[in-house]
Amino acid sequence: MRRLKLLIIAGARPNFMKIAPLIKAIQERNAGDSGVLDWRLVHTGQHYDARMSHIFFGELGIPAPDVNLNVGSGSHATQTANIMKEFEPVCIAERPDWVVVVGDVNSTVACSLVAAKLQINVAHVEAGLRSYDRTMPEEVNRVVTDALANLLFTPSPDADENLKREGVAEEKIVLVGNVMIDAIVANLESARRSTVLDRNALSQKGFVYVTLHRPSNVDDPVSLNSIMLELTRMARQMPVVFPMHPRTRKMCSEFGITFGEHSGLKILDPIGYHDSLCLAENARFVLTDSGGLQEETTFFRTPCLTLRPNTERPITISLGSNELTTTETLAADIDKVLGGPVRCGEVPPLWDGRAAHRIVDTFVGVHTAEAVGREHKEKQPVPC
Ligand code: UD1
Repeated sequence: MRRLKLLIIAGARPNFMKIAPLIKAIQERNAGDSGVLDWRLVHTGQHYDARMSHIFFGELGIPAPDVNLNVGSGSHATQTANIMKEFEPVCIAERPDWVVVVGDVNSTVACSLVAAKLQINVAHVEAGLRSYDRTMPEEVNRVVTDALANLLFTPSPDADENLKREGVAEEKIVLVGNVMIDAIVANLESARRSTVLDRNALSQKGFVYVTLHRPSNVDDPVSLNSIMLELTRMARQMPVVFPMHPRTRKMCSEFGITFGEHSGLKILDPIGYHDSLCLAENARFVLTDSGGLQEETTFFRTPCLTLRPNTERPITISLGSNELTTTETLAADIDKVLGGPVRCGEVPPLWDGRAAHRIVDTFVGVHTAEAVGREHKEKQPVPC
């Protein structure tokens, strides 16, 4: 049988933990099934710093990309357009059966657009998530990518419902579970060997883990200033560890925001995946605006305050350990988590470490059905 060719796309930090399990599942299937899947990895270069990109390839065992588009940073239009321009010739040369995109970053939507216009099938991993807030660039990316996708792999039933409401045909939607959890399960042992707690003088359940990088929180001086003041206040009660995203650091320096002199507030450079998992598992609670950390804390059953007016991952609230907060209610919400009994929630169904295998099974199933269909057609008597 002809091999099915997949072009897998990754561009920004949260993509790497989603493609790692997928590539591993493909490699396992190929080992047992004489190489049924042909695949190439394309890195768009949306993130390029060692701490935002290379470190994850090493830690997650991702092979070096076959192609790097090296697009770098820019405005949304510039970055998206540059990815499209650079990806189109790769797509034409490779002629894959499927372009596989993950998540909701600019690389996701840019590569989906290129593939769709070349009439190449698009598969979207982590499809159907909606915050219904179009001020978030990621929401625009999600809606457009899902509109173009031919196969939509969803992490939770709410995503299926969103897609059906938008008129996506049911046969295109496959509920596979959450590939982020596959990555955690595969890396749990390494994460538990991390020395990040010792290196930062932190004790189990005796610190708060903070990550903040969304434009809505950090691109506005009033909001960023009030967040940093609140973190300084919290650090007087309990150590706060805050690996700072380059966007946040840039904005702090632009707005002249300093971090206070309190030794409890530990501002770090961006950290690797194993250190981050270790912090998420052992924190008293996590304060974040990241999508991935809402899911990771749900898996670890660590309380999480998400500093956003909404989330595209509502299951982390309805089932998991997540709660939304605002800059106005942050102080009270922090005191509540630090002072009272905490809600640990439960892990959603299919967040079990097997999502990528279900994705691979789907590709092989679709491919086999198409091959059988082709063979059947070829065997039909030619009409006279
Ligand atoms: C992007 C994603 C966001 C994701 C986040 C995770 C989009 C629209 N946004 O946001 O969904 O949650 O990644 O990190 O795709 N920079 C560096 N080094 C790098 C990359 C970026 O210093 O390796 C700096 C640059 O100054 C850049 C800024 O960070 O301008 C923002 O990077 P960008 O990729 O535009 O968006 P993120 O905020 O990282």
